[in-house]
Amino acid sequence: MIGFWNSISLIPISLSFLFLFQDLFAAPTRHLCHPEQRDAILEIKNEFKIQNPCIDGLPKTVSWVYNSDCCSWDSIRCDANFRDVIMLNLSDSCLHGQLNSKISIFRLQNLRFLTTLDLSNNDFIGKIPSSLGNFYMLTTLDLSRNHFSGEIPSSLGNLSKLATLELSSNHFGGEIPASLGNLSKLTTLHLSHNNFTGRIPSSLGNLLNLTNLSLCANNFIGEIPSSFGIFFSHLTSLSLCENNFGGEIPTSLGSLSHLTVLDLSQKNFVGEIPFSFGSLKTLTSLSVENNKLSGNFPLMLLNLRKLTELSLYGNKYVGKLPLNISLLSNLEFFYVSGNAFTGTTPSSLFSIPSLAYVDLSNNQLNGTLELGNISLSPKIEDLRLGNNNFMGSIPRSISKLSNLERLDLSHLNTQGCSVDLSIFSHLKSLKRLYLSHLNTTTTLDLNANLPFLKSLDTLDISGNLVSSENTSLVSDPPLLSEL
Ligand SMILES: *[C@@H]1O[C@H](CO)[C@@H](O)[C@H](O)[C@H]1NC(C)=O
Ligand SMILES: *[C@@H]1O[C@H](CO)[C@@H](O)[C@H](O)[C@H]1NC(C)=O
Ligand SMILES: *[C@@H]1O[C@H](CO)[C@@H](O)[C@H](O)[C@H]1NC(C)=O
Ligand SMILES: *[C@@H]1O[C@H](CO)[C@@H](O)[C@H](O)[C@H]1NC(C)=O
Ligand SMILES: *[C@@H]1O[C@H](CO)[C@@H](O)[C@H](O)[C@H]1NC(C)=O
Ligand SMILES: *[C@@H]1O[C@H](CO)[C@@H](O)[C@H](O)[C@H]1NC(C)=O
Ligand SMILES: *[C@@H]1O[C@H](CO)[C@@H](O)[C@H](O)[C@H]1NC(C)=O
Ligand SMILES: *[C@@H]1O[C@H](CO)[C@@H](O)[C@H](O)[C@H]1NC(C)=O
Ligand SMILES: *[C@@H]1O[C@H](CO)[C@@H](O)[C@H](O)[C@H]1NC(C)=O
Ligand SMILES: *[C@@H]1O[C@H](CO)[C@@H](O)[C@H](O)[C@H]1NC(C)=O
Ligand SMILES: *[C@@H]1O[C@H](CO)[C@@H](O)[C@H](O)[C@H]1NC(C)=O
Repeated sequence: MIGFWNSISLIPISLSFLFLFQDLFAAPTRHLCHPEQRDAILEIKNEFKIQNPCIDGLPKTVSWVYNSDCCSWDSIRCDANFRDVIMLNLSDSCLHGQLNSKISIFRLQNLRFLTTLDLSNNDFIGKIPSSLGNFYMLTTLDLSRNHFSGEIPSSLGNLSKLATLELSSNHFGGEIPASLGNLSKLTTLHLSHNNFTGRIPSSLGNLLNLTNLSLCANNFIGEIPSSFGIFFSHLTSLSLCENNFGGEIPTSLGSLSHLTVLDLSQKNFVGEIPFSFGSLKTLTSLSVENNKLSGNFPLMLLNLRKLTELSLYGNKYVGKLPLNISLLSNLEFFYVSGNAFTGTTPSSLFSIPSLAYVDLSNNQLNGTLELGNISLSPKIEDLRLGNNNFMGSIPRSISKLSNLERLDLSHLNTQGCSVDLSIFSHLKSLKRLYLSHLNTTTTLDLNANLPFLKSLDTLDISGNLVSSENTSLVSDPPLLSEL
């Protein structure tokens, strides 16, 4: 306030009166937003219905009232000098309606200074208006998680300053317009969970600065262009999962030396993981699950010492798991189920201190079940060893896995050995226990054992001899939600 009076004391009386007058009748700040921009924004408020009840968001447009400075409204930001509206962020606002209507937002003359338009997670329907291509200042356009349909308008290729294009989780169809290859400043392109078809246009190879590309859950076909590995040298995250890509994984992907996340899980890749993947030294997450990959465990992956997640499940791998798997000393997720691996569990696996989720189930692992050296502070929460050909008794060392929540030992062939459920009694967090078909002569006595397992809510002991003299175990309310 002091600054205000100081400054007007320097200008003539009549002028300062005008300033005062405007201040009294308009808004608390002297620099108001432009009326034509305010009106365009107010029209958005009138055009789109707020879903009632607004469960997953906040009805942000409620704060928009005519007789105030629109630069102070919720979800709007203005340029500090010129007071142009530069950001409109209506994410999670429970808005419903058709963007392609006669709506004000496309009074382009008025909102052409927008650099950020975020309409994500609403209930917008209909086509994306091609006039969006006229917001030539846009650097961020986020229309994800709505119900847009139709195709991507090729005019979006005119947004030459665009760095982020987020269109995931809508219902668009058709092919990706080649014009998107004109967006040379693009760093993030997310098109996942739509219904896009066709091949990846070769023009996308022009997007040299792309760091994040996600095309998951569409209907793309053809082979992955080998140019991906050559041009996209800045990529840190590449997700191509759940499409109809086919053929082999291109060797060139091994030259994406900045990758941290690579998701190739889907249904049609054949052959082997290229040897070049041994150079992806910054990779933290690699998923190739549910393909038709074959051969032995890809040993060059043991070079990827930053891996925290390795998912090979649902392929056709054979042979042994490598004894030196603990070279992956940061591993948290190790999923290799649904292959045809043989041999024992690699003794060093459980010495990895970060390991939390392990799924070796549904393979042909055999020999006695041993966990080898267990880390001193095991983080393992989920251990699935079921449906293999293991023989012998349940290893007592399992009781060291004090954070275990889920354990699957189904089809462990104890060859008639006795089974002592009390070895699980130290596992205070155990919620789900699967012990079906243990080929034991022991009668599992629920009354004697269940009281030990205080957190348990799911127990599968089918295919064994079971006794329970106390029917309250299966009565109402049940101790277990699933038995
Ligand atoms: C929009 O606002 C939400 C919070 O409401 C925020 O999480 C999001 O990052 C914002 N979008 C942009 C592009 O800044
Ligand atoms: C914008 O894109 C459309 C379709 O791609 C094109 O026909 C039009 O000439 C472009 N406009 C400008 C101003 O570049
Ligand atoms: C934009 O992309 C289209 C299709 O790839 C191309 O024909 C056109 O020349 C490009 N325009 C500019 C300005 O680069
Ligand atoms: C790509 O990024 C580099 C480094 O950030 C920058 O110098 C260059 O201008 C960018 N290229 C384009 C086409 O934006
Ligand atoms: C996806 O596109 C195909 C045509 O390519 C169409 O047959 C199918 O109905 C579409 N699916 C959805 C959910 O829109
Ligand atoms: C891009 O990918 C990196 C690495 O996975 C990730 O940390 C980052 O959040 C992603 N950025 C965007 C905008 O999705
Ligand atoms: C890991 O063990 C395999 C044999 O299982 C061996 O071929 C490979 O060279 C070893 N890798 C490293 C990095 O020591
Ligand atoms: C495990 O299975 C492999 C392949 O079927 C077999 O060669 C090996 O003898 C078996 N090992 C044991 C201990 O049964
Ligand atoms: C278990 O750990 C000890 C000490 O770290 C080591 O000497 C031994 O070789 C390990 N055994 C196996 C089977 O990895
Ligand atoms: C079950 O164990 C008995 C020994 O008690 C053994 O003779 C039998 O072969 C085992 N069953 C199977 C299917 O391996
Ligand atoms: C039956 O089991 C319940 C719960 O474990 C216990 O409270 C009750 O005393 C038992 N009754 C008999 C007769 O064992």
